[in-house]
Amino acid sequence: MIPQKRILIIDDNALFVNFLVRVLEGKGYEISVAYDGQTGIQKVHKDVPDLILLDLKLPDLSGEEVLETIRANHKQIPIIVVTGYGGEQIAVEMMKKGATDYLSKPIDHEILLQSIQDAIDIKEAQLQDKAWGEWGSLEFFFPFLAHEVRNPLHAISGALTIIKRRSDLNDRLLAQSIKIIDEEVQHLNHFVQECLNFVRPPNPVLITEIDVNEVISIIVNMMTQMFDPQAKGITIIAEKDPQLPRIHANYEELKQAFLNIGQNAIEAMPNGGTFTITTSFKIESDPKIEILFKDNGMGIRQEHINQLFRPFFTTKQRGSGLGLAICRRIIEERHGGKIMITTGENQGTTFKVELPVHPKPEGI
Ligand SMILES: Nc1ncnc2c1ncn2[C@@H]1O[C@H](COP(=O)(O)OP(=O)(O)O)[C@@H](O)[C@H]1O
Ligand SMILES: [Mg+2]
Repeated sequence: MIPQKRILIIDDNALFVNFLVRVLEGKGYEISVAYDGQTGIQKVHKDVPDLILLDLKLPDLSGEEVLETIRANHKQIPIIVVTGYGGEQIAVEMMKKGATDYLSKPIDHEILLQSIQDAIDIKEAQLQDKAWGEWGSLEFFFPFLAHEVRNPLHAISGALTIIKRRSDLNDRLLAQSIKIIDEEVQHLNHFVQECLNFVRPPNPVLITEIDVNEVISIIVNMMTQMFDPQAKGITIIAEKDPQLPRIHANYEELKQAFLNIGQNAIEAMPNGGTFTITTSFKIESDPKIEILFKDNGMGIRQEHINQLFRPFFTTKQRGSGLGLAICRRIIEERHGGKIMITTGENQGTTFKVELPVHPKPEGI
């Protein structure tokens, strides 16, 4: 069993603490609480937690003092600062003083959990042995990069919120400039998230029995919302084999892999086209599920085919080049499957994914 991660909450608002405890215990975290700064510091000293949620308004010390005192002895613990509404400016200062992340109240459930998970992942990856195999250095470097990039990004976002609030957005040039900063911050955030996705360690607990057809339905829905295919003249078709057996797999990871393939297909059809996903059950020597992702877009040049799955290979101006590297890691390394391509320039592309029906993913 994976040991529970321990989170220390330092906050004097009992109602809010109760809310956090309920949400976080529900997700399997072990929680302890300190209702003032001194007690918080003592608790960290006695038994170092895996993560700290720190409120900035405490009855005895300021959140800033608590942060500095803890950081002086513990460089590694992720500390997420919780600020009241409109506290972005203070949050920016806190990030400079070593906070890992900040959240503004009212706190969104999903953002809270994501922020905690990312902070813990970063710390774990930093502590991992550097010799992690072929991409060992990336396993070490990405979380470090993510951490270093995210902090200033948060600071920029926080500062931008203030600028937006105080600016005359009827000034077209100003509004446009703010929009550019916003979009670029989002782009960088997305890139950093992809880097983290690439190195996120496998989690055997998340392997469950799943219906691949259901994953396909979900990603078709997501693609419709995210990419507005209709406006681009793109039709998405799903042909699902009703006889598909269920398999053991990580639902979120498969979703992500398929979505990456889907996004590439959309991007390959700037003038519209059709994207067809077909699932089928192949009973050969090893029973397997086959999923075909077919687009009639620009296709892939012969000389690029061998490089597609390498991290950072991209032919796009704003591409991260991590989408297919993540796909291969998920399909082949994590699920014992295969991913193959048939394509030609201007002939469209088909990605074929095979997943064993009784996979034994590594580490299980
Ligand atoms: N369906 C597709 N049609 C044409 N080219 C593709 C397709 N899928 C992937 N590619 C090529 O593979 C490259 C790598 O893809 P990916 O790893 O997802 O990174 P990114 O999308 O950020 O460029 C793309 O830049 C593109 O050249
Ligand atoms: Mg991509």
